[in-house]
Amino acid sequence: MLFQLSEEQLMIQQAARDFAQNELKPGVIDRDEHQKFPAEQVKKLGELGFLGMMVAEKYGGSGLDALSYVLVMEELSKVDASASVVISVNNSLVCYGLEAYGSDFQKEKYLTPLASGQKIGAFCLSEPEAGSDATSQHTTAEDKGDYYLLNGTKNWITNGSTASTYLVIAQTHPELKHKGINAFIVEKGMPGFTLGPKENKMGIRGSDTHSLMFDDVKVPKENRIGEDGFGFRFAMKTLEGGRIGIAAQALGIAAGAYELALAYAKQRKSFGKPISDHQAIAFKLADMATQIEAARMLVYKAAWLKDQGLSYTLAGSMAKLYASKVAMDVTVEAVQVHGGYGFVKEYHVERLMRDAKITQIYEGTSEIQQLVISREILK
Ligand code: CAA
Repeated sequence: MLFQLSEEQLMIQQAARDFAQNELKPGVIDRDEHQKFPAEQVKKLGELGFLGMMVAEKYGGSGLDALSYVLVMEELSKVDASASVVISVNNSLVCYGLEAYGSDFQKEKYLTPLASGQKIGAFCLSEPEAGSDATSQHTTAEDKGDYYLLNGTKNWITNGSTASTYLVIAQTHPELKHKGINAFIVEKGMPGFTLGPKENKMGIRGSDTHSLMFDDVKVPKENRIGEDGFGFRFAMKTLEGGRIGIAAQALGIAAGAYELALAYAKQRKSFGKPISDHQAIAFKLADMATQIEAARMLVYKAAWLKDQGLSYTLAGSMAKLYASKVAMDVTVEAVQVHGGYGFVKEYHVERLMRDAKITQIYEGTSEIQQLVISREILK
């Protein structure tokens, strides 16, 4: 195994690091406080090619590998997880889903503007009563001949108000259970499609999370993704890649908090010396660094497997399960290293601690990852 990044990967990593420091860091506390979407920053990320990183160039993407994508996710998330979740959903759930399973028409019309950063996408699976139990879709898509009639509610939708293109999962043949589910491309502005209020969240407060309501929305037949009944499999396959992106986000949050704690520990003095010279702090830093490195190996390996065209179901879930736990553990410790300063906003670590929690919840809770892992190792 080669544990070395290529020249190109190192350059992309550096570009993301610079962007995070120069463009994301300056307003991140204000955006968190006031729940402001990083619109200007996302636009620039689109111009850098970070919104469709793995999409082929002919569809407006950057044609890069999954490892480059996780490097970018890691660097952006060190500073602003609200911005990185936009990148994650657009890349791994929306663009990937369309490129892997969309028709030529769908790729032309919808993927190209999404991958080139002109538009943002959202992935709409969760419902008030279908979170972990994703087969229990209550949103219905009735086949009316040349269109489907969409009715129902989706919850917790990232990019809810800022997206223009929504991939919506709905039940067409309830008697067939998960085999009757379809995935559709829905456009903002289709009559009958409305937004619920923005959620007031604990973390990733700069990202806009909404419920969506569909009331007799007519979706053209050509907007169904794949064969009739492919929707659940579509959602599962797409989420597998999404989990690698969120694992990289968790890794970045942990690494960002660790870097802040390390710098603080070297300059803050107590009992006549830097606190990093006290074993109580030095050992915490040692544990944090070790946990982060272990998480990094899992995340990079999952991305590498994807790049090799090998199965990454198990590796992606392991990476997400572990990296999100590391994000929680390390951010709590980073606040502790900062003492009272860690509890105030200017020092960033309290925000990273709040942001870390969602990585154990979205794109499959930790318990769902344990379910996927246990099924894989026991089968
Ligand atoms: N790839 C392909 N097919 C898959 C699959 C996968 N990874 N996982 C399941 N399937 C197939 C199964 O083979 C089965 O098909 P057959 O009947 O033809 O064999 C079918 O799907 C049903 O699978 P299960 O019997 O395993 O279904 P289940 O209900 O027991 O469990 C689950 C499935 C893994 C728990 C799934 O429901 C799941 O992943 N739940 C979590 C959902 C989730 O991650 N939600 C996140 C929302 S999106 C989000 O957060 C985005 C955001 O905004 C940030």
